[in-house]
Amino acid sequence: MSVADSTVAGRAVIELDHVSRAFKVPGGTITAVDGVSLAIGAGEALCIVGESGCGKTTTGRMLAGILHPTSGRLLYEGEDVWRKKGNELSTFRRAVQLVHQDPYASLNPTRTIFQTLSAPLYRHKKAKGNRDATNRVRHLLDVVGLTPPDDFLGKYPHQLSGGQRQRVAIARALTVDPRVIVADEAVSMVDVSIRISLLNLLLGLRSEMGVSIVLITHDLAVARYFAREGRIGVMYLGRMVELGHSEALVSDPAHPYSAALIAAIPEADPRITRSKERVALKTAEVPSLLALPPGCTFHPRCPLAEPGLCDVQIPELLPLPADTPREVACHVAIRERRPAAELLA
Ligand SMILES: Nc1ncnc2c1ncn2[C@@H]1O[C@H](COP(=O)(O)OP(=O)(O)OP(=O)(O)O)[C@@H](O)[C@H]1O
Ligand SMILES: [Mg+2]
Repeated sequence: MSVADSTVAGRAVIELDHVSRAFKVPGGTITAVDGVSLAIGAGEALCIVGESGCGKTTTGRMLAGILHPTSGRLLYEGEDVWRKKGNELSTFRRAVQLVHQDPYASLNPTRTIFQTLSAPLYRHKKAKGNRDATNRVRHLLDVVGLTPPDDFLGKYPHQLSGGQRQRVAIARALTVDPRVIVADEAVSMVDVSIRISLLNLLLGLRSEMGVSIVLITHDLAVARYFAREGRIGVMYLGRMVELGHSEALVSDPAHPYSAALIAAIPEADPRITRSKERVALKTAEVPSLLALPPGCTFHPRCPLAEPGLCDVQIPELLPLPADTPREVACHVAIRERRPAAELLA
């Protein structure tokens, strides 16, 4: 059983199996994603967090099957997606939908909302005739909270607010009855006041329609809200450094990098204490992907780093013995059998 398998009850809908992705850039080749394994269960809410450039979007694009991994496999219901052809590949493409950060860029400005949403319904033979398409589009608008639907059918993207456009983008993803939605920074460009209602909409799709949602965000406060009943995966320089149940990860982060991220969330709730203790990193500087440090790539910044260990061996993502199942890629936490938050306290 792989690490990813052990965390998802039942069979995974989609799974990344040790995927890596390299890119040629000026100055050499970078590994934007390095050996990530991740299984997404049916109806699961999972959040991928990490700082800019850590490989979140690249991971999301590989999950959605629009970017080929350099190595490793993408599995859909246990089968290798990149070996599929024809109808089987189309089934996967419908099953996993990507929602982008900027709906303004992804919606055609010359099409009305009705045209935008009816086109995939016709293309995938999910609507028969104009009346059926109109009814289905009305229903989708209702599902995403654009009500009354008739007010929106004839509108163009520029006539909507940012939050409304993102709802249209989500409705468009829903036209093909997906099993998984990968939402890449889907709430980052909207006002804070609208963010929560969009997150609630995505969570509603999960509870009411059983759609799995993978939310990608650089904002741990968003991750924490979204994944409160699910899991969070923390990425650092292309690797998954911690993956676990959201509550455990936030209250008692196992990786020192997660502890540092959590300590940086502005906190209105004074009850949250231990995990909020300041984590004194050795340096704020993030290494370049073109010149990664050996061993654990976090070791130059890590207050727990041990010479001869952390600067030599790459830590694997391993289960940390604890009440709540989670995995951490930290030599010290694994050896001490305790989360970094406790070792740093
Ligand atoms: N098509 C590409 N060609 C070259 N380099 C790329 C390409 N796509 C991504 N990268 C590089 O890979 C690394 C990871 O990028 P990625 O977009 O996955 O990060 P991210 O975590 O989504 O960042 P952000 O929070 O800024 O969106 C970055 O260094 C980026 O410049
Ligand atoms: Mg990104």
